[in-house]
Amino acid sequence: MALGTLADAPRDLVNEIRHLEELFTVGTAKLKEITNHFVNELTKGLTVEGGSIPMNPTWVMSQPTGYETGSYLALDMGGTNLRVCQVTLTEQKSEFDIIQSKYRMPEELKTGDAEELWEYIADCLQQFIETHHGNASKLDKIPLGFTFSYPATQNYIDEGILQRWTKGFDIAGVEGRNVVPMFEAALARRGVPIKLTALINDTTGTLVASAYTDPKMKIGCIFGTGCNAAYFEDFGSIPKLADVKVKPETPMAINCEWGAFDNEHLVLPRTPYDVAIDRDSPRPGQQAFEKMIAGLYLGEIFRLILVDLHDKKDVNIFAGQDISKLRKPYTLDSSFLSAIEEDPFENLSETLELFQSKLNISPSLPELELIRRTAELIGTRAARLSACGVAAISIKKGYKTCHVGADGSVFNKYPHFKARGAQALREILDWPAKENPNDEDPIEIMAAEDGSGVGAALIAALTLQRVRAGIMHGILNKENFL
Ligand code: GLC
Repeated sequence: MALGTLADAPRDLVNEIRHLEELFTVGTAKLKEITNHFVNELTKGLTVEGGSIPMNPTWVMSQPTGYETGSYLALDMGGTNLRVCQVTLTEQKSEFDIIQSKYRMPEELKTGDAEELWEYIADCLQQFIETHHGNASKLDKIPLGFTFSYPATQNYIDEGILQRWTKGFDIAGVEGRNVVPMFEAALARRGVPIKLTALINDTTGTLVASAYTDPKMKIGCIFGTGCNAAYFEDFGSIPKLADVKVKPETPMAINCEWGAFDNEHLVLPRTPYDVAIDRDSPRPGQQAFEKMIAGLYLGEIFRLILVDLHDKKDVNIFAGQDISKLRKPYTLDSSFLSAIEEDPFENLSETLELFQSKLNISPSLPELELIRRTAELIGTRAARLSACGVAAISIKKGYKTCHVGADGSVFNKYPHFKARGAQALREILDWPAKENPNDEDPIEIMAAEDGSGVGAALIAALTLQRVRAGIMHGILNKENFL
């Protein structure tokens, strides 16, 4: 926003905007500092001692060729919906057919009882199979790739141990336990004819699905309710897997769980609002990076700022108005900020309507300008910090050029997220100015293929393939592959 438009704003609001700009702007030098630390943390996470980023091996040990075939089920337990897909990888290179159903994930389930969660999921799967395959009990078991997008270790001793819930989930009795037998028991109780072939993370699915159609894709990212990435490492660079007897150049997809970056608070420019978000979250001290970037938190950061500016005696925005709706935690999601950033009108009339209808507040024009600038600052900071992670993986792997497949509501729907991230990558990696505005960047973050559908099916296919070839690393239930 041009400075001039603030000319009529009361002095105290101008000062507040300046202050927020100082808090939320991440300059090039800081981006570089964060990226350097990130590279070290990625490496540390691969060692036996480990670091704050888990760097979970996924046991996806090959890249797709585009020639995978077969029919698979894919289940995605995301933040808002449960999605079930039947994916057919066709004979034609890189092609697939997909049918899918979505089921709403009841809000109470996210903080309820583990048993109810698994029962609900099993019910949805049963419904899907009955609709698309007729009488379930007469069928051979269908291979399923389950996208479970939380930090879960996957190795041959303890496949599927949930390290901790993220993204606002808080279901007792699951953390520290293996989710696979819980899920399988719920299926068995109903006689659902499914064999769980692969438990996958959404980022790994995104990486593999994108590489299936575009071999230049080297990194898969999710910028959605949560924020995370996966990439292919080679065994030779993973000291914590030194005892697995494979050639050092064998690939292994790593689910970074980079949301945990800087949990020690060494480099990220946290503001008092970030500190408050963390303090009041179900898991304080965890997911420091994610809490500054992911969709779940962007609206909440914004809400905390506005409440603070209302409560400050010398600022007191929305003076004399009832802000009780605004006081309710997590009432605003990132689509609220998107709508503010998309308001095309000089007088921000759409933002005014949004505040009136959703929050029962009528901001003055200077207040609307502060609101718009605050949304821009939060959205820009998120995009710029995200770029540090992408730059760090690229530097670690020595990728000078590649494609990065990205998915998630923030990437797909938040205005300017892609352009702001690209600008930050340019600053971090010191790229010269583009000769032609239509040229691709050396490292281009672009829309990914469907990771939790096609990606999950592909990973099921790749896993079956290698098990048939006798490569059993990471396989817990051999009977699921017979
Ligand atoms: C959270 C989860 C992670 C997931 C990401 C994106 O960070 O911990 O597993 O990949 O959100 O959904």
